[in-house]
Amino acid sequence: MTDARSKRLLPILDAPRAHGGRSSMTCRYRCGDACFHPVPNRSDNEYFADMVTEAVADRLSRRGVLRIGVAGTVAAGLSAGLTLPAAAAEKSGTAATEVAKGSSLGFAPVPPNTLDSIVVPNGYDHDVLIRWGQPILPGAPAFDPHRQAPAAQAMQFGYNNDFVGVLPLERDDRALLVVNHEYTNEELMFPGWKGHEAATDKQKQIAILAHGISVVMIERAGRTGRWKVVPPAKARKYNRRIHGRTTFAFTGAAAGSKLLRTSADRTGKKAQGTFNNCAGGITPWGTMLSGEENFNQYFVGGDGAPEADKAALLRYGIPTDTRYPDASRRWETVDERFDLTAEPHEANRFGWIVEVDPFDPDSTPRKHTALGRFKHEGANVRLSDDGRAVAYMGDDERFDYLYKFVSSRRMRAGSGAAVRRHNLGLLEDGTLYAAKLSFTSADEIDGSGKLPSDGAFDGKGEWIPLVKGDRSLVPGMTVDEVLVHTRFAGDKVGATKMDRPEDVEPNLRTGKVYAALTNNTDRGMPGKKEGATEVAPRNENKHGQILELTEQGNDAAATRFTWSLPIVCGDPADESTYFAGYDKTKVSPISCPDNVAFDPAGNLWISTDGNALEANDGLFAVPLKGEERGHVKQFLTVPVGAETCGPWIADDARTVFVAVQHPGEVDDASFEEPASTWPDGSYARPAVVNVWRNDGGRVGS
Ligand code: FEO
Ligand code: CA
Ligand code: CA
Repeated sequence: MTDARSKRLLPILDAPRAHGGRSSMTCRYRCGDACFHPVPNRSDNEYFADMVTEAVADRLSRRGVLRIGVAGTVAAGLSAGLTLPAAAAEKSGTAATEVAKGSSLGFAPVPPNTLDSIVVPNGYDHDVLIRWGQPILPGAPAFDPHRQAPAAQAMQFGYNNDFVGVLPLERDDRALLVVNHEYTNEELMFPGWKGHEAATDKQKQIAILAHGISVVMIERAGRTGRWKVVPPAKARKYNRRIHGRTTFAFTGAAAGSKLLRTSADRTGKKAQGTFNNCAGGITPWGTMLSGEENFNQYFVGGDGAPEADKAALLRYGIPTDTRYPDASRRWETVDERFDLTAEPHEANRFGWIVEVDPFDPDSTPRKHTALGRFKHEGANVRLSDDGRAVAYMGDDERFDYLYKFVSSRRMRAGSGAAVRRHNLGLLEDGTLYAAKLSFTSADEIDGSGKLPSDGAFDGKGEWIPLVKGDRSLVPGMTVDEVLVHTRFAGDKVGATKMDRPEDVEPNLRTGKVYAALTNNTDRGMPGKKEGATEVAPRNENKHGQILELTEQGNDAAATRFTWSLPIVCGDPADESTYFAGYDKTKVSPISCPDNVAFDPAGNLWISTDGNALEANDGLFAVPLKGEERGHVKQFLTVPVGAETCGPWIADDARTVFVAVQHPGEVDDASFEEPASTWPDGSYARPAVVNVWRNDGGRVGS
């Protein structure tokens, strides 16, 4: 970060090191210094050689999305039963017209800055909706950073909010806010922190419980798009904390596999807790999906794991030549399962997509093995033409892969208990695919980011099936091996190496899928495996790019697609950037795209993590259609050291929800000497904010 403190050494780190615009502290706590370890993908699968493709035909029917509020559920998506263009247009009103002609975003962009505050455009306002430690269960004590306790944290809002989803309740002035708590930063959480080696058992227990997911009832406040939290005593019907001790059930073909069995769970069917939940999604049947990402960092003792397990540990970023990886939180002293020497399979029980039913606080959350195991950023669902659930997913690691899952059964419409039970089972059985891309201009890619002579970074692609139901389609691997060690399966089928796929999300207005490829500073570096390709056209890629994927026939279940890069991020003055051909003098600088979302008009919203342009991270919006396609504008910036997460644009487009993650995460900062004092002026505290237009109008238009 630009704060002077970011350039000082963090005493407990070995060396002053950071990647892109991230502080060393973020690298350590978020990913366990993943970027400083060897790239886990050591496979030599290559990308296809040049394959000429004709121009990409946009054959989309531009069908809208039908959102129907049914008892306790939200339905959103495209399906045979629900695809009613006329009804959708009627529902969405002006939004459908706007997307057809290409919508513009009416706000004046927020300039890049390094302020320790939230900055929104003129005519907008914002407020903190909920903070780390705020009571969400009845009886939870008020937050006091000097009197933290495990039992309190288990009833309070967790740390480092990331994914944000909002599910309408039947009373339309109320909704459920669902939020992931990705990771803890003990240096900023605990007064008097003296390092992980000196951490107390109590601090470790608090950290375990500060991870996970929160479900919180919120209600509208006034006539603008502003919301507030419903007091816990009045929200007991729904409010919930899921954390590192919550029981999860495994589903799918790998449930019960010997690869998932431990001494505490000899069935291999029950996991304890969820960690590093990064992005996520809301399903058309009204549940939340959440991705377990950098789970590797919670484990020690890889050196003592059985030899037979070591290759898989390494492929997932767990060192096998040392007991204590650099970023170790030393949780094995309070819970032996975090020691892989004692419990070599415990790491296999993380790295999944989890599904939570926010409408049923007594339900057991599930880990779906059918969606594979990797560093799941998140999962977002669109329905296929025949109504099957298709989940798009990214494995956020340098040179790792894009995936999708297609359910074997179709979603059912309606609200009865039998329908709900059916839909809740959709992600338990289906086909898992990895993406293999081909290129139109491979010969012209030189690592500089220069646009090829055909005017596009583009090509075709194929979804390669890995598992269908309980049958492995990868030679030499059993079904549970493919699902538990999915990265090996991707290697074997020659999936395409990407620049850290973060959020992958379908635009329900058009069916096109967008992936944030956040960066990859190892791309093309001397001694590294792979140089620039058409989908990763810059070596030492510091700023990332956005991928747009169009399924054949616009059917989410298709096994072929076309793709292009509408945006190659960075300072627009930098020749290697590209904004869909839009006038670069008019776009906002953007670096390290991470989470994506769509507003009801179909505009793409992009949040950033680790801005490598010497300014704070932000939230950006960009039209995808018409003359304004590529006109990226910054909507908001977050405080010093923070990352912009979420985001979530309300169904009525009157509110933008943003998770402000790790404010003040600047090297050498501490609770007592914070680099940020957002939001309350004393110490840094992760929180979710909501933003609205002062006149109550639609955000962005
Ligand atoms: Fe948690 Fe890939 O960001
Ligand atoms: Ca091309
Ligand atoms: Ca992310």
